Amino acid sequence: MRRESLIIAIDGPAASGKGTLARRLAARYGLNHLDTGLTYRAVARALLDAGLPLDNAQEAEAAARAVDLGALDRQALAAHAVGEAASKIAVMPEVRRALVEKQRAFAASPPGAVLDGRDIGTVVCPNADVKLYVTASPQVRAERRWKEILSGGGEVDYAAVLADVERRDVRDMSRADSPLRPADDAHLLDTSEMDIETAFQAAVALIDAALAGR
Ligand code: DC
Repeated sequence: MRRESLIIAIDGPAASGKGTLARRLAARYGLNHLDTGLTYRAVARALLDAGLPLDNAQEAEAAARAVDLGALDRQALAAHAVGEAASKIAVMPEVRRALVEKQRAFAASPPGAVLDGRDIGTVVCPNADVKLYVTASPQVRAERRWKEILSGGGEVDYAAVLADVERRDVRDMSRADSPLRPADDAHLLDTSEMDIETAFQAAVALIDAALAGR
C-alpha cells in the first residue's frame, strides 16, 4: 500500500506531544521529519540575537528567508523565551509565506515526510496523505511541561505554566493568518489519558487505516 512518496501532517497546540509523535512516526514509516516550530523559533532567535524588535515585518521576513532547514539546532532554539518570541513573529504573513515555501519544498522531496506544527494540514500540505490533530487538555499539557521543567532542575509554579500554555493557545488560535485549527479531514487524537507509547500506537492505527482506505 506504500506509495512512492508519503506526507503525514501533524498539528496541535503547544505541549500536546505532537513533536515526539512526529519523530517516532517518521522513523516508523521511513520518512524525513521537520518540526516546523523550529523554523519559527529560528527567526525569533535571529531577531533576538540581533537586538531587533519582534514586530518589524521587513527584518523578520529577511530573517525568515535566511533560515536554513538543514541547520536547525533544536537545543539552541529550546529556550522558553524563544518559543514565546516565535509565537509573536508567527503572526506576520511575510514570515509565514517565506517559511511555508521552505516547508513545502522539504515535504516534496523523496521519500516524503512527517511535518509537525500548527498549520500543516490546513495550509502547508493541504493534500497530505494523512492528517492528525494531536491535542490534550490545557491542564494535562501544562502538567507535562511542568514536570519536564522540574526534572531538568528548574523551578516553576504549575499555575504559571498553565497560564502560559493558555496564553500561547489563544495567540496561536486567534491570529488572522493560518490560525491553529484542525483541518476538516484531520483525524483527532486526544492524548489527555494516554502515555506516549499508547499515543504512538493510536497514531499508527489511524495512519494505517487511512492509508489502507485510499
Ligand atoms: O511548536 P513550537 O512551540 O516550537 O512553536 C513555537 C511557535 O511557532 C508557536 O507558538 C507558533 C509558531 N508556529 C506556527 O505559527 N506555525 C507552525 N507550523 C509551527 C509553529
